[in-house]
Amino acid sequence: MWSQKWVIGNWKMNGRLQNNNALMHRFRILPAADKVTIGLAAPTVYLLQLHNAMQIVLNNRILTCSQDVSRFPGNGAYTGEVSAEMMADIGVDIVLIGHSERSLYFGEKNEIQRQKMENVLAVGLTPLLCVGESLQEREENKAKEVIAHQLSILAGLNTKNIAVAYEPVWAIGTGKVATIEQIAEMHEFIYQQILSLCGSDVRIRVLYGGSVNAGNAADIFAVPCVDGALVGGASLSYDSFTSIINAAQ
Ligand code: G3P
Repeated sequence: MWSQKWVIGNWKMNGRLQNNNALMHRFRILPAADKVTIGLAAPTVYLLQLHNAMQIVLNNRILTCSQDVSRFPGNGAYTGEVSAEMMADIGVDIVLIGHSERSLYFGEKNEIQRQKMENVLAVGLTPLLCVGESLQEREENKAKEVIAHQLSILAGLNTKNIAVAYEPVWAIGTGKVATIEQIAEMHEFIYQQILSLCGSDVRIRVLYGGSVNAGNAADIFAVPCVDGALVGGASLSYDSFTSIINAAQ
């Protein structure tokens, strides 16, 4: 059992310099920051702004997270790409990998996600692998089969710390949060899968994502094997996001 839950806000393609600054300054008052590990995943163009604000204003009490990373390490002729080394260079702590929207819109699959995991680990950052089934896969009772395939890239990774976010695709942005029973079943399954893939000495953290809000967060955090939340829409609102953080204490 972990001492602190993680609450990470995924801004997706949202943010503007002025609004970001205003939000960062509101986060100066964050009583739960010493009881919850908090992160914000902003678009890449805003990560340095966030990191500087977190250092200056928040005494690093909020972790800087990126929403993706290049499959290519270091430097090179990869127009538009941002490498894990560059993420480390600007102070990123955690890197989201394999978000369902990356698969949906950019066709990213296991092999690319494995390369990204290796790149992130190689520079000492923490990868957060996102997994989740579609509505059709759930309705066809294939959720565990799909999740097992997505998790298979964890085998043989050079780390004993595994962080995964379970985000049923049909719960993302829909307001249709998974039931407590579904969350409990899938988180337990994911734990067991990781143990079998990575060995019994691995430290596992599984976050839930998918329509988490101020009203359902406490019930979700009470579920065994739920070690935190990956929050989308609600993370864009100071009040909603701080309510979720407070529920994680
Ligand atoms: O990465 C978190 C995101 O996919 C969940 O979105 O808006 O359902 O909280 P949302």
